[in-house]
Amino acid sequence: MTAALASFCAIMQRYQPTQTQLMYKVFETADAAAYYTAQRMLKTIQAMPEPVLGLATGSTMEPVYAHFLQLLQRDPVDLSQLTTFNLDEYLGLSVTHAQSYHYYMQQHLFSKLALPQENIHLPGGVASDAEAACQAYSAAIQALGGLDLQLLGIGSNGHIGFNEPQTSFASRTHVVELSEQTRIDNGRFFADQSEMPTHAITLGIQDIVEAKEVVLMITGRHKADIVAQLYHSPIDEALPASALKQHPHLTIVLDREAAALLPSQAFAVSSLSSAQAV
Ligand code: F6R
Repeated sequence: MTAALASFCAIMQRYQPTQTQLMYKVFETADAAAYYTAQRMLKTIQAMPEPVLGLATGSTMEPVYAHFLQLLQRDPVDLSQLTTFNLDEYLGLSVTHAQSYHYYMQQHLFSKLALPQENIHLPGGVASDAEAACQAYSAAIQALGGLDLQLLGIGSNGHIGFNEPQTSFASRTHVVELSEQTRIDNGRFFADQSEMPTHAITLGIQDIVEAKEVVLMITGRHKADIVAQLYHSPIDEALPASALKQHPHLTIVLDREAAALLPSQAFAVSSLSSAQAV
């Protein structure tokens, strides 16, 4: 065990949950899972005077943001005190690049929200001093008292944010070299695979696990293997998402397909339809 992992385990051991206490919520469809996650976003915003949300991108989150916008239409809330921090951004892509996460967030969420521009934060993909920008990013989150809710997807290699396998669990925001698996997985979004960036800036694992609540949403049959690996894995830097396993307020939100390889005793299937409340 590395020194960083030992100190991470020491911090987390006061919670001492067991494997079977992991909180799974499994829904019949990916849409119902997204609806549940959108409701969790809304509830956090309603519950906190100055909510701070950690946001993710990727295909898993698209229906979450669509549901969230619909919920807001039905039940408008004041967003003037909301602050958001995104998990990650590709290094070298400008905010107007169609595959940048700045662009994604504008397209799927921010352009449709009355959210003060200064309350929106994403790591800068073209910062002149990336190291200083990374430190400032983690510090800005801490200055606001940390993240109230962190939304996460997962990579097929178990990454959270862009924290690839073997990233230190003590990491803060940092520049990362993307793994070959991630470049293959995410290259599908680029017209030419060779345009896929080699590096990104990501919130670190320590930043992520310090969030007061974490919702890890995983959908689709293609993610069933990593869901099962996560279930069986010890807490190990080889599987970045395993850092979440002792988080006291973690919910793993799955659709039935992503849960296909989990032992059935791990969960009960929820039947939340789009009309029901959490
Ligand atoms: C995105 C992010 C990544 C994705 C993961 C899954 O901000 O941090 O960890 O959540 O790569 O991506 P999708 O949802 O496209 O399968």
